[in-house]
Amino acid sequence: MEGCKAPFPLLRPQQCGVSYTTAGPRRFRPVEVPKCSLMYVHVLSLVCFLGSRVCLFLVGELLGYGSFGKVYEGTHIFDDRIKVAMKYIHKHKNDRCLHVAGHSKPVIAEVAMLLRLREPPLCPNIIKLHHWIEKKRSFVLIMEYPKPCSTLHQYITCSDDMNEGKAHWLISQLVQAVKHCVDRGVFHGDIHTGNILVTNPSLELKLIDFGCAYPISSEGLLSSEYRGAPLFTPPEVIRHSKYHADPAYVWAIGVVLFEILHGFLPFGSQDEILRDYVKAKPTLSSACHDLIFQCLIRNPANRLTLEHLEEHRWFKS
Ligand SMILES: Nc1ncnc2c1ncn2[C@@H]1O[C@H](COP(=O)(O)OP(=O)(O)OP(=O)(O)O)[C@@H](O)[C@H]1O
Ligand SMILES: [Mg+2]
Repeated sequence: MEGCKAPFPLLRPQQCGVSYTTAGPRRFRPVEVPKCSLMYVHVLSLVCFLGSRVCLFLVGELLGYGSFGKVYEGTHIFDDRIKVAMKYIHKHKNDRCLHVAGHSKPVIAEVAMLLRLREPPLCPNIIKLHHWIEKKRSFVLIMEYPKPCSTLHQYITCSDDMNEGKAHWLISQLVQAVKHCVDRGVFHGDIHTGNILVTNPSLELKLIDFGCAYPISSEGLLSSEYRGAPLFTPPEVIRHSKYHADPAYVWAIGVVLFEILHGFLPFGSQDEILRDYVKAKPTLSSACHDLIFQCLIRNPANRLTLEHLEEHRWFKS
């Protein structure tokens, strides 16, 4: 693959051969973005407030895109060391909106969830929303841009020296991010390696894209509202009408761990998710094998719990 020759390439998901298109009605939304940005020309600017300061950003190169929005680099007009990521989300009549304390009208769920998550103390493994702007036809989210970075999927695809040590560092950070989400009552709903950024070279992890997120409820979440990537879907979401956030998170962590160490996903279809046994490579340590199997136990009641995840011997090795 051409892009893999660079030390830390920024590939589009499609270039890596796998698309984690989110299921459901979020697909194929038209996104209104400045055409000039597609040509990587700094001609459009955007004013926003960061803290108490008014900031002007130049919209730069396209960093990535998904079914929901396009994300551009933004550079502070007076200080080009200050970079942000700007996500343009086209408005849609079916947008989920939630009430947020301190706001007179409901805001889109992605913003509402990011606002909950940025209440101090912050988790360094979750992307920070600096600000958002509501326009006539779109929302613009001004977010932290951990530069240089790529998605974890791009990193895995292009890396030829992945090992359990690196996997350990990455998964430990993902667990911190997930625990912070649970603490704030947020179910991400679309954890996959395309929604995780890693910095170069320190591999600091940031969970992004809360467009499928829901507030956690003790009665459980509705499977019919699940919009996550199909091959990361926990079996209980496919089988039952309701599911719970914690075991669904553990399933997603298991799939991500498997992908980090194998370079491909444990299940190729939702049918396989319901029926197949995981085939992990024999060169992995027995602790790692066991952790993958424990996270991918089909019955959520028997699955390793989020609470006890880090007590597993693989985290101590
Ligand atoms: N804060 C950020 N910093 C750098 N790059 C980012 C940032 N946020 C998003 N990106 C890039 O933009 C891509 C699309 O962003 P995101 O996943 O939020 O969009 P989406 O349309 O909601 O995606 P999906 O198709 O998963 O629903 C990411 O995969 C990543 O490459
Ligand atoms: Mg995404």
